[in-house]
Amino acid sequence: MAIGHSIHQEKVGGTIFPPMTTARLLLRRFLVEDITPGYVAALNDPEVVRFTEVRHQRWDTERTREYVRACNGPGQPLLIGMFRLDTKQHLGNLILHVTPVHQRVELAFMLWDRHQWNQGYATEAVSAVTEACFCVLGAHKVCAGYYGTHQSSARVLEKAGFVVEARLVDHCVSDGGYVDAIRVTKFQPANQAR
Ligand SMILES: CC(C)(COP(=O)(O)OP(=O)(O)OC[C@H]1O[C@@H](n2cnc3c(N)ncnc32)[C@H](O)[C@@H]1OP(=O)(O)O)[C@@H](O)C(=O)NCCC(=O)NCCS
Repeated sequence: MAIGHSIHQEKVGGTIFPPMTTARLLLRRFLVEDITPGYVAALNDPEVVRFTEVRHQRWDTERTREYVRACNGPGQPLLIGMFRLDTKQHLGNLILHVTPVHQRVELAFMLWDRHQWNQGYATEAVSAVTEACFCVLGAHKVCAGYYGTHQSSARVLEKAGFVVEARLVDHCVSDGGYVDAIRVTKFQPANQAR
């Protein structure tokens, strides 16, 4: 890939970010038609959304549709669904906020189906999408964040090769107290040694 190649908004519109498969997952644009009652219910499940900003509002089907419709257009966040290759089941989503002028991507992720946790799916998806940010979008830097109390997210990002860049003290309110926000980063491998 071309280092220093800028990220173009059209790429984020979906034409260049292609569907991809990993050992166990299909990763492709998440569509309104993919929304299920189980997914909407999970967006309101305190255990699922405990460490996310999704928890600040109540979700119903219409609000979820509006959100999904608003994604994936030019200049909008890219919403990618994770689907199991064997059962075709939708497990969760990743969202990419791309800042083309800085060649930077902010990555977030959620596995809504709690029965699928701790089987390596998030790590598989995050690793593949991060690689695509470098190779397909031409990103220099992919960033993510999590609450300091969220050990599972910390582990996923560590396994995917992210390193801690900053700890923002008492940055968020969670479970009735202040928690630190941890910022992690992975650089385009070809640029890492500079
Ligand atoms: C966080 C989340 C994405 C993890 O998905 P997942 O598919 O279960 O993740 P993986 O199986 O790839 O990896 C999870 C790792 O965390 C570890 N882990 C899980 N709970 C843990 C805990 N309480 N303490 C320490 N490690 C923990 C697992 O053991 C595993 O590590 P290992 O492979 O070394 O054993 C998923 O739980 C989720 O979507 N939660 C709700 C939404 C959310 O919080 N999103 C992230 C916001 S930053």
